[in-house]
Amino acid sequence: MRLGVLTGGGDCPGLNAAIRAVVRKAEGTGDEIIGFLDGWRGAIEDDVIPLDVQRCRGILPRGGTILGTSRTNPFKVDDGVKKVFATVEAHGLDAVLAVGGEGTLSASRALSELGLPVIGIPKTIDNDVNATDVTIGFHTAVQVASEAIDRLHSTAESHDRVMVCEVMGRHVGWIALYAGIAAGAAVILLPEDPFDIAAVGDHLIRRHQKGRFASIVVVAEGAKPKPGTLELPPPEIDQYDHERLGGIGSVVAEEIERYTGLESRVTILGHILRGGTPAAFDRMLATQFGVAAVDAAHDGAIGEMVALHGTKVERVPLADAVGELKAVPVDFADKLCGLFSD
Ligand code: F6P
Repeated sequence: MRLGVLTGGGDCPGLNAAIRAVVRKAEGTGDEIIGFLDGWRGAIEDDVIPLDVQRCRGILPRGGTILGTSRTNPFKVDDGVKKVFATVEAHGLDAVLAVGGEGTLSASRALSELGLPVIGIPKTIDNDVNATDVTIGFHTAVQVASEAIDRLHSTAESHDRVMVCEVMGRHVGWIALYAGIAAGAAVILLPEDPFDIAAVGDHLIRRHQKGRFASIVVVAEGAKPKPGTLELPPPEIDQYDHERLGGIGSVVAEEIERYTGLESRVTILGHILRGGTPAAFDRMLATQFGVAAVDAAHDGAIGEMVALHGTKVERVPLADAVGELKAVPVDFADKLCGLFSD
């Protein structure tokens, strides 16, 4: 077979592990494989490189992606779709393995419905792709965020401060919830559950009246105040109509200080959660997904995505993975946060 692989959307730890697994499996099976540079851009512009095991040596623990990535959407570029088909045909590819999050996988689904042989591999630190328990990159992001919040505790205690820690999570709060619980935050603000800054302030005042002089507030970048409670500046929009966020932590810290009189500081972790070496879990997951995607290509499972269900890697239609995001169930978050916030 002849296969192509691309990484699209925001990068995350574990992309190189996925590329390496795809290439090793493909070469072991006698397939030839090329990589598209910068996600769908490489497919539109026929910007490709040959890949083999030698090229992938040493990349397993490396963050980022050797193929580069972009948020280019073929449906938003003039003749983009036609050009993708032409490139795939010119290279005689039997399948394109697209490693991506919601945006890249939505484009993959639409292209596969037009007849392009695409197979999806889910990645994103946000963990918001449906039909899979977890995506490549999520565990590393949670680990890095938890370690950072652990460090904020001691400085918060030394100064009797409220430390607000903003983490990525544009539409969903999986990182905020997992890292906040793992690192003992007093308050966790999720996009799924609009917050009232006065209620947050009252909770912190109660804590501090009980003698807790330091509090950690974890806020997902996409967290939203309840209507009419707090004004936020409007965000920019990208090619997939995604909002470019970042900065709500500063507003929350200022408002907490103003409302409670407690000295507050903000730390925005941002892209730190996307960089650097992947945790062992993500290396393993990426390897399993890469191998499974090549198997899927051999089985003709076009228009499908590999997914983790429990301990098993299975296949689901791309259509089941995109369209709607996998949000944090608010009752699940409430149960955990209620236990540990006092
Ligand atoms: O990939 C998901 C994500 O990390 C979101 O959490 C975040 O909002 C977004 O990407 C940032 O994207 P960019 O790096 O393009 O600004």
